[in-house]
Amino acid sequence: MVTDSIDSLNTPVVFYIDPFRRIQISRIPVPERKSNSMASSTLISDTEPWKDLKGHVEEIKQTHLRDLMDDSTRCKSMTVEFDGILLDYSRQRIDQDTREKLFRLAEAARLKQKIDNMYSGEHINITENRSVLHVALRAPRDKVICSDGKNVVPDVWKVLDKISEFSERVRSGSWVGATGKALKDVIAVGIGGSFLGPLFVHAALQTDPEAMECARARQLRFLANVDPVDVARSITGLNPETTLVIVVSKTFTTAETMLNARTLREWISTALGPQAVAKHMVAVSTNLTLVEKFGIDPNNAFAFWDWVGGRYSVCSAVGVLPLSLQYGFSVVHKFLKGAASIDDHFHSTPFEKNIPVLLGLLSVWNVSFFGYPARAILPYSQALEKFAPHIQQVSMESNGKGVSIDGVPLPFEAGEIDFGEPGTNGQHSFYQLIHQGRVIPCDFIGVVKSQQPVYLKGEMVSNHDELMSNFFAQPDALAYGKTPEQLLRENVPNHLIPHKTFPGNRPSLSLLLPSLNAYNIGQLLAIYEHRIAVEGFIWGINSFDQWGVELGKSLASQVRKQLHLSRAKGEPVEGFNFSTTTLITKYLEAQSGISSYESTHLPKI
Ligand code: F6P
Repeated sequence: MVTDSIDSLNTPVVFYIDPFRRIQISRIPVPERKSNSMASSTLISDTEPWKDLKGHVEEIKQTHLRDLMDDSTRCKSMTVEFDGILLDYSRQRIDQDTREKLFRLAEAARLKQKIDNMYSGEHINITENRSVLHVALRAPRDKVICSDGKNVVPDVWKVLDKISEFSERVRSGSWVGATGKALKDVIAVGIGGSFLGPLFVHAALQTDPEAMECARARQLRFLANVDPVDVARSITGLNPETTLVIVVSKTFTTAETMLNARTLREWISTALGPQAVAKHMVAVSTNLTLVEKFGIDPNNAFAFWDWVGGRYSVCSAVGVLPLSLQYGFSVVHKFLKGAASIDDHFHSTPFEKNIPVLLGLLSVWNVSFFGYPARAILPYSQALEKFAPHIQQVSMESNGKGVSIDGVPLPFEAGEIDFGEPGTNGQHSFYQLIHQGRVIPCDFIGVVKSQQPVYLKGEMVSNHDELMSNFFAQPDALAYGKTPEQLLRENVPNHLIPHKTFPGNRPSLSLLLPSLNAYNIGQLLAIYEHRIAVEGFIWGINSFDQWGVELGKSLASQVRKQLHLSRAKGEPVEGFNFSTTTLITKYLEAQSGISSYESTHLPKI
């Protein structure tokens, strides 16, 4: 557990408390910030625009979306279009005044400068002393984007060209496995940012006609969880002779990924001999030394750089390699181009028309001024089924922070709880709560042209129109609700009126995409990545580190050591609190019959 406080000189300090032994081990002053143009000694909540919005929200609370939606001038001013994407934010609880005030807040937070600093490669991730340049991953060849004075775009393209060439060799069958067979199946082993982004894009492309055609007779699977059940699921039905394993890990030290990688290495070498690893395993990492130590030929490693955050890495080899193996590089290149289009828009468009900036400011408004703690991501597209899980990591790992970028504890809550499901499935699951229970701002994401249109003769509408009827209806249902008067007019019995009354006034926004091809998927990804950065820039936090997760990584190691000592040497469980000692002891006792470490066990499936 980590707690923060301010000492008498107002210097932030950090207390580290060992969660198992409950003793304070050290009191470490936070290092003084080097001069950095991101530096802001003032918390955003101390600024006039923040205070002004605090007052303004009380006025807005007196309004109802029913009335706000009646003002067509207001609504017209709350739609923005860029590169085929339409954003309608008229169902947010704001008026034109609110928007102006939010722009003033952006000015106070020096949002424009922070965005520029990111694009110019400043070390805005100050706790790790790194640039944040995922925009360079999708930049065209001729663009210049520098980190530490060096243009990184040629390095990016060197890796992209290597992926293009390698994936073509594998796909065409000129790269074969140890027994001479073509490798038609791929398992990507990785977790967190080395998994969720590629999974989202893979799921989204799976039914795109062009991508489907390119993926014919090929399979891409993912192995993330260290649960051996996930190993079993990932290899079920696959033949090691025709399988390529990609170990994806920025650090090449993540415990789950490395154990899973060793397990699949064992799977391959048990079946084909240890020399087969060279043909059946490749890696994506920033740590090429550890890749080589693991036994993967460095020529078969695809690099990326420490200026790419894990959760922002889907456009690096992390996503581009597995996706190119499955769909071909040319499809994946379109995905990169879609993201690049939004990168330019985000960097150069005035805030009034800037989709990620508007979205970010609206989220700050909902979280910090209305106090809504969550956000629902509701794509009306089954192809986007893995979008919410990906955004959960991007958003919650980035903005779930308790201190400002200067290490000062925040007097307000940053970040939001993201969750979501594709509509219409979500409607039959948790929409009751969002219509009548808690207020949860919703993102409705719709698509004009289905990837797989169906129309049945005699039906009133096509299947996609049926889906989209819900996409159009739900935001209004949330905004308008249903009054007792309406229910009376509908002859609803008195005793049911309270149950069928919906207060409405629940904010949402609608994003309409022209279709869901690789290009649009790239656009959607970049919109959310930048929106989340905007929120962090306004809150004045570091959206690019993840110390909370690092903490979790170190905690399990003590238990791991204990499990080993107890199983291998029969040592008693000690050094933990009563509860943990009891749980571990129970676990060991209940498993005493299956503790043999004598031989290797692989899943029996
Ligand atoms: O989940 C925490 C995290 O640090 C992520 O930021 C990262 O994407 C993930 O672990 C995996 O790390 P690596 O790619 O180094 O294995």
